[in-house]
Amino acid sequence: MSAISRIGVFTSGGDAPGMNACIRAVVRTAIANEKQVYGIQRGYQGMIEDEFIPLTSRSVSNIIQRGGTILKTARSKDFMTADGRKKAYQHLQNHQIDALIAIGGDGTFTGAEIFCNEYPDIRIIGIPGTIDNDLAGTDFTLGFDTAVNTTIEAIDKIRDTAAAHDRCFFIEVMGRDSGCIALWAGVAGGAEAILLPEHDTNLDALIEKLESGAKRNKSSSIVIVAEGEKNGGAQNVAQQVKSRLPDYETKVTVLGHVQRGGSPSAFDRIFAAKCGVKSIEALIAGENRVMVGIRDNKMSYTPLSKATKQHDPLDKDLYRMIDILAL
Ligand code: F6P
Repeated sequence: MSAISRIGVFTSGGDAPGMNACIRAVVRTAIANEKQVYGIQRGYQGMIEDEFIPLTSRSVSNIIQRGGTILKTARSKDFMTADGRKKAYQHLQNHQIDALIAIGGDGTFTGAEIFCNEYPDIRIIGIPGTIDNDLAGTDFTLGFDTAVNTTIEAIDKIRDTAAAHDRCFFIEVMGRDSGCIALWAGVAGGAEAILLPEHDTNLDALIEKLESGAKRNKSSSIVIVAEGEKNGGAQNVAQQVKSRLPDYETKVTVLGHVQRGGSPSAFDRIFAAKCGVKSIEALIAGENRVMVGIRDNKMSYTPLSKATKQHDPLDKDLYRMIDILAL
């Protein structure tokens, strides 16, 4: 195993609060270990288009509190082609980069695995950066905690107006394939029901539940609908409920990208620091093709190939509590 002297860091896929705090930790830990660092802008796309910038300790000053990513991000179609990956490799060679720190989610690590198979001389460590919390082998991903907090802030506000008007709100939250934000924000926000991509929701049962709530003098209700839920999203679910309960006043709010922005929570900043430091220490210790994560409050490594396979099952206990707490 050859020693590493120059490391490239990039963010890829959907941005997530905490990515900047993580870039800062990666850069400063690398420099503390006498390694040079280059930032690669716009993820794999910037690797293909030769967007490399040297980073110093000062380049990452005053970013710990900022949402988004100073390196920018992209979902690169070109990297899905062998030709695109070859260009990326050539640019890494031109800049004498021998290792990469990839901060991203499922798509980022799938790309990293393919790249490692084709160009095994480049070593890669992954850091889980996605609001979706949908990577196997880590209990949390960067940005999830902040996104849940942003979501419950919105739910609380909607609850005020829902109660004032005796309305039923269907709130759509992010998560194409993962119901983690919906489940956590739904329970924390006191939702009557939570519709998730991982569970089929029977609309008859949902309607019965809302009707029974009304009989128990609930004048307003909040239903959280994850974006990737199988009934076609909050708009569709609300329409179907309205067609069956015409006297029910229904409203729909799609929270969208507001959930991806904002200053990272304390948890996300600390987690970002731990992941950043660990990722460089892992490289120096000879690790390769692993994702740094957190398991039972201890930092862990998971092979990149496993991290993307299937996300860990949703917290069954939390799921079970939805109905009890909505009484
Ligand atoms: O990054 C994850 C995520 O926010 C998902 O929850 C969502 O489905 C998707 O990204 C949206 O992606 P885009 O911003 O590219 O539309």
